[in-house]
Amino acid sequence: MSARRLAIRQPEQFALSASAKKEISNWVKKYPKGRQRSALIPALWIAQKDAGGWLPELALRELGDMLDMAYIRVYEVATFYTMFNLEPVGVHFVQMCGTTPCWLRGSDELKVMLERKIGPQRSISADGKLSWLEVECLGSCSNAPMVQISNADGDHYYEDLTAETLEAVLDDLAAGKKPPQGPKNGRFSSEPIGGAMALTTIGTAKRIKSLPNAAAKAKIVDHANDSKPKPAAKKKAAPKKAAAPKKAAAKKPQVIYTDGPTDGAPDDLKLIKGIGPKFEGDLNSKGIYYFRQIGAWKAADIKMVEELIDSIPGRIKRDEWVKQGKALAKGGKPRAMKKAKS
Ligand code: FES
Repeated sequence: MSARRLAIRQPEQFALSASAKKEISNWVKKYPKGRQRSALIPALWIAQKDAGGWLPELALRELGDMLDMAYIRVYEVATFYTMFNLEPVGVHFVQMCGTTPCWLRGSDELKVMLERKIGPQRSISADGKLSWLEVECLGSCSNAPMVQISNADGDHYYEDLTAETLEAVLDDLAAGKKPPQGPKNGRFSSEPIGGAMALTTIGTAKRIKSLPNAAAKAKIVDHANDSKPKPAAKKKAAPKKAAAPKKAAAKKPQVIYTDGPTDGAPDDLKLIKGIGPKFEGDLNSKGIYYFRQIGAWKAADIKMVEELIDSIPGRIKRDEWVKQGKALAKGGKPRAMKKAKS
């Protein structure tokens, strides 16, 4: 980290505004008596905003007086944290992230453009409207490369930038416009470039609809595609064996609860060894509330449930959820309780 010093050119006069003083005294009140210096960092931030984006030495001294601190202690904090500017900035102050994720995604190109358009770091453009600084990660790495631009309206993030899109933002700001913040490549947030790939409504409904062993009185999530087993598929084999229709009926898509259990109070699924609060919540969210449902699972059901609740494959079988579910449905004691007694 480089040494940071106060600006050589300082204003001859400076005084915090009444509103800034009030805001700082509100922060001071949050700390016990005698500990008012704990409010120094928010006080520096407020003073910086009040002074137009930087901290003149007179502002630091005024804070020292307000917080009953030696001036050198105030200087120490202000010069340590790079969020505090020690020299004047432009009307729109650009902080460009140059940390690895942003660098890998092209921050060097932004840097070249900023140098061309504004000048070297810490300099202010000829019209006084723009200045810039390279900083470390600003916490928006998933939308790299990005900048934070601070002005009288606040601090704004512009993300997923190219040199061209950032330059367009700067032109708009310099022209007095207010370009919308956020990603500049069409993304809404940090979803994949090609669009969201999870939690799409149709896909979710299809998966939930086919969940096994849901209770019979439940509401059906989605009737639209709830096609019954095709007669042609089962009837061809049926003439030879009378049992065929029963098997076909058993393969019907299962229905599940959508708004809670309707067959009485739900069982405490955590009594099944291997099911904790998280798995219980996951199972409930898929319409599984009762021991008898779990006790009736077959191998295919187990496989499907493991996928639905993101369980490690083989875990349900290893922990014998089905066996335990059957026993508990018949009024048996939880496995853990039996062990505790032995
Ligand atoms: S690395 Fe640039 S925002 Fe994190």
